[in-house]
Amino acid sequence: MFQPPLPPEYSRLSDVEAVDRIQAAKRTLGERVVILGHHYQRDETIRHADFRGDSYKLAKDGAAQEKAEFIVFCGVHFMAESADILSGGRQKVILPNLSAGCSMADMASIHQVRACWRALERLGVGSDVVPVTYINSAASLKSFVGEHGGAVCTSSNCAKVLKWALAQGEKILFFPDQHLGRNTALAMGFDESQMVIWDPLATEENGGETAERLRDAKFILWKGHCSVHGRFNVRQIEYARERYPDVRVIVHPECRREVVEAADDSGSTEKIQRVVRDAPNGSKWAVGTEINLVNRLAHEEKANDKLVFCLDPIVCPCSTMYRIAPANLLWVLESLVRGEIVNQITVPPDVASNALLALDRMLTIAG
Ligand code: 13P
Ligand code: SF4
Repeated sequence: MFQPPLPPEYSRLSDVEAVDRIQAAKRTLGERVVILGHHYQRDETIRHADFRGDSYKLAKDGAAQEKAEFIVFCGVHFMAESADILSGGRQKVILPNLSAGCSMADMASIHQVRACWRALERLGVGSDVVPVTYINSAASLKSFVGEHGGAVCTSSNCAKVLKWALAQGEKILFFPDQHLGRNTALAMGFDESQMVIWDPLATEENGGETAERLRDAKFILWKGHCSVHGRFNVRQIEYARERYPDVRVIVHPECRREVVEAADDSGSTEKIQRVVRDAPNGSKWAVGTEINLVNRLAHEEKANDKLVFCLDPIVCPCSTMYRIAPANLLWVLESLVRGEIVNQITVPPDVASNALLALDRMLTIAG
């Protein structure tokens, strides 16, 4: 989505100038507003969050809000959409920058997913397939999944959701992140030979796969990926181990298979933080995820004599998460103080009802 320029009063504001005004607006709004912040948000923004978390925790935190009228989501578009669906209209959800999307979520459109489904039906396997969508996807995809008996998952509950899905049907269509699907299925004991890739951009029919392989596969993995996590590689892990022989390596499951296999552990952003925080003082950690999280963890854990660094020395931040600047947050909060709602994210009711089914299934499965 496109974010029109902020009014000049906000666009010229420095991060430091915004701090006091954000706090003042929060005080004025009191319990009417709750701010959620994903771990990839920059320090200057996340410091104002009432709740921090990975995608799963924030979905639950948002859903648990009873008193607040407004949820301001410092994250990306699919997170705000999920919060709106889960709020059932009780809260108004606001995304401080409309252009904060997710490039991976954009790799699967509802038209492409429907075309894939039609192809699977033509091959005679439609009724065997349970669709599972990573939460990093548009509401329309969640709705499709809900309508077709599937569920949403996040990186923290993917194995539980896949296990559930395999109890509902013979095979899984997993979108949009092939790596999370593959890494989780491998960790569950499946073999890569049981997985095929569906390429939505393939010029050949059937997503570039043969009919036979699609019929035989247990997992049909959508050809999508995260460009931030795609930057991590095995050589970086080898280099970290050469430099610090006692280093532990932990990466996000959106990384490629060989990276996850070369690491000591993998998990959601919440898990990464927990594992590093719970580790003995003096330990060393090479982390394969977004740089704002890693830098914050490194700073916090310095006091415990831990060395925490990013596997990729020149890694860029997630550019879309970075779009929630303090000035954007201030603008939406001061607008609320003036009685004006800007940047509200609303999912149309006909989409939201089936999407809620798919999200609720995840919440029930994951607990
Ligand atoms: P988490 O659910 O682990 O926070 O992941 C969200 C995400 O977008 C990772 O790139
Ligand atoms: Fe999307 Fe990757 Fe950014 Fe996560 S890190 S929000 S998957 S682009």
